[in-house]
Amino acid sequence: MAAQYGSADDRARNVGSDKREGGQDSARVIGGHDGNTMHSANSSPTAMTMATLWATLCDAFHGDPARGERVVVALDQREMDQACRDVLNLFAPLLVTPRPDRPLVVAHLAQSLDGCIAQANGESHWISGDEDLDHTHRLRAACDVVLVGAETVERDDCALSVRRVEGPHPVRVVLDPTARLSPDRKIFSSPGGATIWITGHDHAPQAETSDRIEVVQLATRQGQFELADVLEVVSARGHRRLFVEGGGITVSHFLEAGLLDRLHLAVAPVLIGGGRPTIGLPLGPTLSHCPRPAIRVYDMGDDWLFDCDLRLTSP
Ligand SMILES: NC(=O)c1ccc[n+]([C@@H]2O[C@H](COP(=O)([O-])OP(=O)(O)OC[C@H]3O[C@@H](n4cnc5c(N)ncnc54)[C@H](OP(=O)(O)O)[C@@H]3O)[C@@H](O)[C@H]2O)c1
Repeated sequence: MAAQYGSADDRARNVGSDKREGGQDSARVIGGHDGNTMHSANSSPTAMTMATLWATLCDAFHGDPARGERVVVALDQREMDQACRDVLNLFAPLLVTPRPDRPLVVAHLAQSLDGCIAQANGESHWISGDEDLDHTHRLRAACDVVLVGAETVERDDCALSVRRVEGPHPVRVVLDPTARLSPDRKIFSSPGGATIWITGHDHAPQAETSDRIEVVQLATRQGQFELADVLEVVSARGHRRLFVEGGGITVSHFLEAGLLDRLHLAVAPVLIGGGRPTIGLPLGPTLSHCPRPAIRVYDMGDDWLFDCDLRLTSP
């Protein structure tokens, strides 16, 4: 990861460079962030390693909520290289803005240039590169809960554990209204956090489940859960941060319901054509009604990461 950009002009300048030829100015930081002072990467020797920074952030994420803000304020960006600064600036908003009313919800998707998160047959491994995969595992480690739709479990058989970085495993949640998933799937059977299997009232899983799996049955309307009910399940178990890891349909439902605080959208330089869409639901009746969130853009290896703040959205 490297530079972040404060204006469309700055972004346009950098998009014109070739990452693979080292065209980006990785030390450049433009624009401040949420009260954090930004410094040039050349201003002081690097003192803080990524491992130290990440351990500090993990500790703050999972410790006393009041401590989180203090930790971010205490970290001195002059002692960090650009990669550490980017991680701090991507994760600080998740740390310092706990919500009193419901869990904070952040989603991540990796899409192609033409807006696909998978091929039509469901193949999606991998669209983005190693840095974005590390980022996804950091999101898992930072949040208390990771949630996916049934189709992602069916297609990917994902374990949703933390393996690429240090940090605790999140509790795993799957939305499976008709209980169509097999209990053999890794989300239910592999090492990791406990699993909450959310099904409709009329569709309890047939097979026996282990004591690491909690089945929660919720009301559906036309096959859909009220996502406020899903968040209530999460809150009632004391969880404060929810990471929605896909797929596109599930993230779209959270967006449409106005229950997404941030969307991390990784854009990879690949064209898929006719694949599964990132956002699969209409979000506005006309173009002028479509949400335009405030964004910050990060250089993420071969990819770009758009950090969309959906609380700062026009119109
Ligand atoms: N590139 C990436 O970042 C990324 C990330 C994750 C997954 N993927 C890929 O994306 C594909 C799957 O994504 P997808 O968009 O097709 O499906 P998805 O979002 O994984 O799952 C959608 C399904 O989840 C259930 N669901 C979601 N929201 C619900 C709600 N509010 N109420 C009730 N049920 C709800 C429904 O299950 P029913 O169908 O049973 O009704 C729905 O059809 C796979 O190919 C996977 O490999 C890519």
